[in-house]
Amino acid sequence: MSRGGGRHRSRGLATAVSDPDRTRPHMSRPTARSATPIVVGALALLGAVVAFAETERPPAPPPIPGIEDLSGHLAELVPMCLACHGENGVPNYAESPVIDGQHEGYLYIQLRDYKNGSRTHEVMSEIVKDLSRQDLKELAAFFAKRPWPRLQQQAEEGDDVLAERLASAGMCKECHLGGYLGDSTVPRLAGQLTSYLVVTMRAFKTKERANNAAMSSLLDTYTDEEIDALARYLGAL
Ligand code: HEC
Ligand code: HEC
Repeated sequence: MSRGGGRHRSRGLATAVSDPDRTRPHMSRPTARSATPIVVGALALLGAVVAFAETERPPAPPPIPGIEDLSGHLAELVPMCLACHGENGVPNYAESPVIDGQHEGYLYIQLRDYKNGSRTHEVMSEIVKDLSRQDLKELAAFFAKRPWPRLQQQAEEGDDVLAERLASAGMCKECHLGGYLGDSTVPRLAGQLTSYLVVTMRAFKTKERANNAAMSSLLDTYTDEEIDALARYLGAL
C-alpha cells in the first residue's frame, strides 16, 4: 500500500521532470533534472527584479477606457457616439467635434444644454432627449478619461500672426488657459477639429449656438475670415 503510493508519487515526479525534457530533446535527462531548480530559482529572481523595476518606474498611464469596459446603458450608447465622434477619438465627420479627452465638466454641460434646448443640433438634441442626468454624467466621465487624439492639422501661412493678434485682443487665454488646454467647464481648443471650430464659432456669432452669451458677443466682432484663421491656428496646435 505504502509502496504503491510511493510508486505513484515517483511516477508523477518523473513525468513532471521529463515533460520539459521533451521540448529539449538534445538535453540529457540528468541535466534537465538538476537544471529544473536552477530555472525555477532564476525565474523567481527575474520575478523579483521585474517587481523591483515595476516599483521604480513612474506609474503606468491608466488604460484607455474602451467599449469592452462598459456595462449597462452606457454599453448600448457609446458605440453609437463612436460612429460619429470616432472609434479612436478622430471624428468621422467634418462637423463632429473631438470629445475624447475633453474636460468632463464641459462635456456634461454641453449634453445637458442639448437636452434642455439651450444648445440645439438636429442630431445631438435628438440623441440626448431621452437620456437621464446620470447617463449624461457617465458619458461625460467616460469620454473625458480617453486620450485626446492627434489630428495633425495644418494652419496656413500667416494664420499664426493674425490669430495671435485676435486671441490677444479677445483675451482667449484668460479663460481657455495656456496652450488653449482649457479646464473644467472651459473647453480645450488646441487640436480640436478645424472644420468644427469654424462651424461652432460662426454659430456663436449668429447666436445659432446660444448657450454662452460671452462667447457670442466676443465672436460677434470677428469677420468670417478671422474666425477661419483662428480655427486653423487652434486646430493645428
Ligand atoms: C450622427 C453623428 C453623431 C452621433 C451619433 C453623436 N454625435 Fe455628438 N456631435 C455630433 C455633431 C455633428 C456635433 C456638433 C453639433 C453642434 O454643432 O452643435 C456633436 C457634438 C457633441 C458634443 C459637444 C462637444 C463640444 O465640443 O461642444 C458632445 C459632448 C457630444 N456630441 C457627445 C456625444 C455623445 C456622448 C454621443 C453618444 C451618446 C454622441 N455625441 C453621438 C455628431 C454626433
Ligand atoms: C470669459 C471667458 C472666455 C473668453 C475670454 C473666451 N472664451 Fe471661448 N469659451 C468660454 C466658455 C466658458 C466656453 C464654453 C461655453 C459653453 O459652455 O457652451 C467657450 C467655448 C468656446 C468654443 C467652443 C468649443 C467647443 O468645443 O465647442 C470656442 C471655439 C471658443 N470658446 C473659442 C474662443 C476664442 C477663439 C476666444 C478668443 C477670441 C475665446 N473663446 C475667448 C470662455 C471664454
